[in-house]
Amino acid sequence: MSKKKKLIVANWKMNPASSAEARVLFAKTKRAGSTLDKVETIICPSFAHLALFAHMGTTRVSLGAQTVFWANSARVTGEVSPEIVKDLGVSYVIVGHSERRALGESDEVVAKKVCAVLKEGMSAILCIGEKERDADAKYFELLKNQLKNSLAGTARKSLLGLIIAYEPLWAIGKSAREAMSPRDVREMSIFIKKLLTDLYDPSIAEAVPILYGGSVEEGNTASLLAEGGIFGLLVGHASLDAERFTRVLKTANAL
Ligand code: 13P
Repeated sequence: MSKKKKLIVANWKMNPASSAEARVLFAKTKRAGSTLDKVETIICPSFAHLALFAHMGTTRVSLGAQTVFWANSARVTGEVSPEIVKDLGVSYVIVGHSERRALGESDEVVAKKVCAVLKEGMSAILCIGEKERDADAKYFELLKNQLKNSLAGTARKSLLGLIIAYEPLWAIGKSAREAMSPRDVREMSIFIKKLLTDLYDPSIAEAVPILYGGSVEEGNTASLLAEGGIFGLLVGHASLDAERFTRVLKTANAL
């Protein structure tokens, strides 16, 4: 992971439906990302498509997985281990996405996955985010516990590969107009850095990149990156259209 370049992550979720479309989207995204020197593009296809792109990453365009199991060589049907994805050339793994947490993934399981990913020498993109903003601002406490519990067992020395993605659930899957405002993103990034300072120390808080995700599109990329106090973006639906995503990447590169 480059600590100098902005990280722009394409989370394809369960898209596209066919491997033919996935190949086209990957090729176009890779071509766009390869021309940019201030951005690292990270493409996260579904597991089924990941193997199509094995070792096709470059210094500018990396391969990511959307989740992983928390152990190697375990007798667990249907799961994929850290060593299997690493062998495909994956260098980033999204862990604890809210859509997985909604399926029952607990902080405890997320914490094991973070440890397993970092142990394998890959970067873990740990997702945290509140479901809603309550009037009493209890979401601050919720985020504090979510982060603390999701990092349980992660030693200070292994944190070099950690990335935090702040994705408020209420802002996911909408349009740029309904995304969080850059000003509020900035507030949350300061809050997360304060949490990391309390959990570890100020140098860790400084070193761990913070991303924002939730209705990032070409129209709000510049303001989020310039005013949000963040290191990069986690992009869902706008990463499924190569032309749109190219505009996101180019905007980020131009800042
Ligand atoms: P959208 O960009 O579609 O809101 O998705 C955000 C997300 O969940 C990325 O991980």
